[in-house]
Amino acid sequence: MKLGVNVDHVSTLREARGTLYPDPVEGALLAESAGCDSIVAHLREDRRHIKERDIIGIKEAIKIPLNLEMSVNKNIVSFAQEICPYQSTFVPERRQELTTEGGIDLVKNYKKVYDVIKKLKKSGIRVSLFIDPLIVQIKAAKDLGADIIEINTGRFSETKTVRSSEVEIRKITKAAIFSKKQGFFVSAGHGLDYENVKEISKIEEIEELNIGHSIMSRSVFVGIVSAVREMFFLIGK
Ligand code: PXP
Repeated sequence: MKLGVNVDHVSTLREARGTLYPDPVEGALLAESAGCDSIVAHLREDRRHIKERDIIGIKEAIKIPLNLEMSVNKNIVSFAQEICPYQSTFVPERRQELTTEGGIDLVKNYKKVYDVIKKLKKSGIRVSLFIDPLIVQIKAAKDLGADIIEINTGRFSETKTVRSSEVEIRKITKAAIFSKKQGFFVSAGHGLDYENVKEISKIEEIEELNIGHSIMSRSVFVGIVSAVREMFFLIGK
């Protein structure tokens, strides 16, 4: 199992006071030194945490792959083409949301996503699509020529009962198996923490987890290196 560490919330802390610290570049370097496999950062349309300068700084500083999460916004797509991250992950965005609320609907947004995938692939960027665990979405991702599927674990992470958690795990497992059969590299993420990650990491077809908020929250008490390593232990890395 690989682990991508999302450093958005290092910037959230910085933005809370409008200071220059803490720096997500330093956060990314610490996560890299702990042994994670990639750094994830979301350049949101409202720039509420990560800014362009953070992405540029992270890309220059790290040796492991950068996974840039983004919407299909024209300016952000142009920025991605300029800086060429190892990977771009398309996510839907709503201004008012606290965090990403669901996977991108590839059926509804087929043409828009098709156009941006074409642009990014031309620039040599691997494309990942963040989707809900639905066969219809995986089929659309296949038609669109994506390289990677990131299965949204958000709904699973919000379940309050064993029964509903089992229902969501079954959906995610089914989606992971189907994605793998289609030839995708299969990742998953959103809302994963030190408790719920164990169930997800049991799904063999999932090759990578992308985790941010819980790791950064734990880092407040034990530091980024220890927080990342504690997560390694839980996911069997
Ligand atoms: N994967 C995707 C596609 C995301 O949008 C996010 C949040 O930016 C994450 C993973 C990480 O989610 P969390 O911060 O809840 O771990």
